[in-house]
Order: sequence, then C-alpha cells, then structure tokens
Amino acid sequence: MSVPLLKIGVVLSTMAMITNWMSQTLPSLVGLNTTKLTAAQGGYPDRSTGVLPANPEESWQVYSSAQDSEGRCVCTVVAPQQSMCSRDARTKQLRQLLEKVQNMTQSIQVLDQRTQRDLQYVEKMEVQLRGLETKFRQVEENHKQNIAKQYKAIKAKMEELRPLIPVLEEYKADAKLVLQFKEEVQNLTSVLSELQEEMGAYDYEELHNRVSNLEERLRACMQKLACGKLTGISDPITIKTSGSRFGSWMTDPLAPEGDTRVWYMDGYHNNRFVREYRSMQDFMTSDNFTSHRLPHPWSGTGQVVYNGSIYFNKFQSHVIIKFDFRTSSISKSRQLDYAGFNNAYHYAWGGHSDIDLMVDEGGLWAVYATNQNAGNIVLSKLNPNTLQIIKSWTTNHPKRSAGESFMICGTLYVTNGYSGGTKVYYAYSTNSSTYEYIDIAFQNKYSHISMLDYNPRDRALYAWNNGHQVLYNVTLFHVIRSEEL
Ligand SMILES: *[C@@H]1O[C@H](CO)[C@@H](O)[C@H](O)[C@H]1NC(C)=O
Ligand SMILES: *[C@@H]1O[C@H](CO)[C@@H](O)[C@H](O)[C@H]1NC(C)=O
Ligand SMILES: *[C@@H]1O[C@H](CO)[C@@H](O)[C@H](O)[C@H]1NC(C)=O
Ligand SMILES: *[C@@H]1O[C@H](CO)[C@@H](O)[C@H](O)[C@H]1NC(C)=O
Ligand SMILES: *[C@@H]1O[C@H](CO)[C@@H](O)[C@H](O)[C@H]1NC(C)=O
Ligand SMILES: *[C@@H]1O[C@H](CO)[C@@H](O)[C@H](O)[C@H]1NC(C)=O
Ligand SMILES: *[C@@H]1O[C@H](CO)[C@@H](O)[C@H](O)[C@H]1NC(C)=O
Repeated sequence: MSVPLLKIGVVLSTMAMITNWMSQTLPSLVGLNTTKLTAAQGGYPDRSTGVLPANPEESWQVYSSAQDSEGRCVCTVVAPQQSMCSRDARTKQLRQLLEKVQNMTQSIQVLDQRTQRDLQYVEKMEVQLRGLETKFRQVEENHKQNIAKQYKAIKAKMEELRPLIPVLEEYKADAKLVLQFKEEVQNLTSVLSELQEEMGAYDYEELHNRVSNLEERLRACMQKLACGKLTGISDPITIKTSGSRFGSWMTDPLAPEGDTRVWYMDGYHNNRFVREYRSMQDFMTSDNFTSHRLPHPWSGTGQVVYNGSIYFNKFQSHVIIKFDFRTSSISKSRQLDYAGFNNAYHYAWGGHSDIDLMVDEGGLWAVYATNQNAGNIVLSKLNPNTLQIIKSWTTNHPKRSAGESFMICGTLYVTNGYSGGTKVYYAYSTNSSTYEYIDIAFQNKYSHISMLDYNPRDRALYAWNNGHQVLYNVTLFHVIRSEEL
C-alpha cells in the first residue's frame, strides 16, 4: 500500500534539541568552558560527555549525555571540594540562575500540559482503531462465507489505518520523554539550590547572555513542539455576551507574560473605537475598559493586535494601517496591492470583510482576493514593520464562498460557512503550496460567526458569534511526513 504515512517526529527532535542544550549550554552556564572540549571532539557532544573545568577543585562539574540507552537524558552534577566554599556576591548571581531554571521548569510544565492534551486525543484515537480492528475480525469470522463488498472496503480502510498504531505508540513514548525531562530539570533545580549555599557563579554579564540564549532556544523548541496540523476543535466556551451581531475581539499573542489585555472592536464599519480591557478576567466580569480612538474607521472584522499594535483595513480602501497603542499613533500605512475591497471579495457573511489580517506562529498574514486570481483567496505574509508583502500564495478557493479563515503554523484553514453547521473543510499549506479538503466540524452555537482567528499563544480560536465572544481550543497533531514504515 502506497499511502504516505504520517510519522511523529517533531517531539523526538525537540527532545534531542533540549537534551543537546542540556549538555551544551548548562555546563557553560555554571561557568565551565566547553569550547575546548567541543573543538577537540570536532562537533556535538557525544552520547556521554564529561565536561571538565580547567581546575577541578575550583569548580563544579556537569556530566551529561544526550540520551542513554532508554532514551533519557542524564545529567550528573559533581560538587566542588568543600574547602572551596565561598560566600561572596556571586551567590546572588547563582540565585538568579536558580530562578531562571525554576522559570524554565514552569515553561516545561506548560509544554507538558500541552503534550498531555494531545496525548489524550491520541489515546482516544488508538482505542477507536483497536476497536475497529477487533470488530472487523469478529464480523469476518461470523460471516466467513458472506464476502460482501462492504467488508472488503472496511478491511482496506483498516489496512490503511493499521500502520498508525506503532506511530501512536511512539508518540506515547515521546510524551514520556517530556515527563522525564521535566523531572530532570526539577532534580537539577534542587541540586542548584544546594550548591547555592556553597558556591558563587561567574561573571554575571556572561551568565546573563548565556541564560538569554538558553531561553531563546527553549522558546524555539516549544514553538516547534506547539506546531502541527489541525485535527480537532473543542466545544466552545462563551466568554461574554456583548455588542452587535458583528465584531472582533482578541488578545495579543506577543504580549508580555501576565498581560492578558483584551482588545474589542464592535461592528464592521463606521467605528473607530477600540476597547481595551485590563485582563481576560475584567473582560468576563465587568464593563470597565479604556477606549482608543483610531485615526480612521475600519472595514470588516479582520483586525489583529500584534506586539502592541493594531493592524486594520482602513474603511473603503485596501490600505492597511499599523496603529501603535503605546504611542497612540500610526506607525505605518500601506496599500495592499490588487486586494479587492468594499465588498468586492467579502467572506460569505458580507460586512466589508474583504481583507482579513491574522497572526500565527510564523508572523503576520493577510487573506484577501484579487481580480488577477479570479476572486480566489490570496494569502500574503507581511513584514509587521513595513507592511510590505514578503511572499504571496494564490489558492483556488473563492473568497466569497468562504465562511471565515485562520492560520495555524503556516497553514490556512477555511470554513464552509458562517451560519448553521460549520466545519473547517479546506486547508492550504504555505509550506508545500498545496491544498487539501478536510472535515473538522465545530459547534456554531449562536449561528452567526463574523470573526474566527487563531491565537498562537493560547492555542485557541477566538470567535465573534452573533454578539457572543467565544473561545475554542484546538488540537494540533505534531506530524511530519516520512517514508512508508
Ligand atoms: C573558552 O576557551 C577558549 C579556548 O580555550 C577561549 O578561546 C575562550 O575565550 C573561552 N571562553 C570563555 C567564555 O572563557
Ligand atoms: C522568573 O519569572 C518571574 C515571573 O514570571 C519573573 O518576575 C522573574 O523576573 C523571572 N526570573 C528570571 C531570573 O528571569
Ligand atoms: C530525580 O531524582 C529522584 C530522587 O533523587 C530520582 O529517583 C529520579 O530518578 C531522578 N530523575 C532523573 C530523571 O534523573
Ligand atoms: C477599571 O480599570 C482601570 C484600569 O484599566 C483601573 O485603574 C480601575 O481601578 C478599574 N475600575 C474598576 C471599578 O474596576
Ligand atoms: C515587538 O516589539 C518590540 C518593541 O517595539 C521589538 O523590540 C520586538 O522586536 C518586536 N517583536 C517582533 C516579533 O516583532
Ligand atoms: C514545513 O517544512 C519544513 C521543512 O520542510 C519542516 O521543517 C516544517 O516542520 C514544516 N512545517 C509544517 C507546519 O508542516
Ligand atoms: C482549553 O484548555 C485549557 C487547558 O486544558 C482549559 O483551561 C480551557 O478552559 C480550555 N478552553 C476551552 C475553550 O475549551
């Protein structure tokens, strides 16, 4: 059978990245110079890497291996000789380092939670698969002589699905690795705590740089792990009931930790007032907000708040404006060339929804249609500072028959309509410039969706449904295509 199989590998490679980082960065963090060692070995750390300080009595040592035979990463920390105890200002630096590691632990918990969520999905799927297999066997045995066409069809389907089972098992093993890694960091934290009393750290400036570097890499790892293909949308949760039938609301995916300000725009035209609620909690429970007056009214519901600025389509034009909330001024304004506007190429629900701006893990995007592409959806990646198009993709999906669309991990997902039963049924991958038809149903609780956008920070879909502000969780499957098993 030549069905291309899906193989889960991203989790594993992320583990490799993390463990690699464990063995490379951590030793440097604690003041050990790994340059010499890496150069001597001519590359990456081996399965088992001992890092020796220039002067063994003076420093403490970290031995680490990327993976042991069971796939775990192992760190061993050897304390320096007791006589070298020092209690100077460096203790403070170590305390900061400790805090960083603790913060990292929190990040890993988030990562772990996400993995667990996906794992539940995988397990459910596995049970279904196994159930189907058993059922089929029974049917086949009971009706040996009845070789009806249907049974053949089921069997073919089963054959197609069977190779997924080992893949699912691999996924479970990967999830276990994340758990082990978490435990390891916790262990490391406690070792650091003990050492804190005895040892100072090294030059703070350098330490700081290395920690920043480390954080960046960890964030990149998590981003990678967070990416995948949409496989499910949860039941909706209604956050608030307010405003007119049409509007949009969101949080900023790049807002600093703890900033959950909610941005709220009621109506699709002739409005220029953006409401800012202090937090999601405030938004849910109160009508306490600050109002921002934009220099121009907007068109449609395609606005997006990204890194402290709102990007919106200026009313009756194909101009995109970036308005910075920090300075309360326009920081950039540019025409989106050839984009239809003024209900030329709206979404199925109308409302001047010609130009839809959105953000995913990869940055800022514009979804629109052009005459050149016969009214079909054009997707452009935008530079968030200059608003220039970095790259465009032309799809074969008519914009006017799309319900809404949103981007996740570089794939555009299009829904079939705004009222009644709704599903995500078309997916265009910018990675491969190919499309496919899919079938992911989701509940349209209030029967009129005028905005649907993904937030990569929450991994949630924000929707405006008939005067209700609604959230959905999404399940992403971390898949890469590989050879047949
Ligand atoms: C690490 O060691 C190498 C070679 O011994 C040296 O060139 C480099 O400056 C050292 N790095 C630090 C940060 O001490
Ligand atoms: C750890 O996280 C807390 C809250 O997220 C933050 O206030 C603190 O500065 C962080 N510590 C370090 C060393 O980054
Ligand atoms: C963490 O420490 C506990 C207790 O010291 C130990 O049982 C466990 O194996 C350690 N975990 C890892 C991953 O090293
Ligand atoms: C309303 O929000 C502002 C900040 O946005 C805050 O200073 C004020 O205390 C809030 N008022 C109430 C009644 O919650
Ligand atoms: C977000 O804004 C800050 C401050 O304006 C800037 O330094 C940073 O590079 C921006 N991040 C992105 C991803 O654009
Ligand atoms: C896109 O392709 C690159 C390289 O082929 C791959 O690493 C990445 O995971 C792909 N992204 C998605 C979302 O499929
Ligand atoms: C999404 O998942 C998180 C964590 O499991 C949960 O707290 C939240 O309520 C969920 N939201 C929705 C809309 O289901």
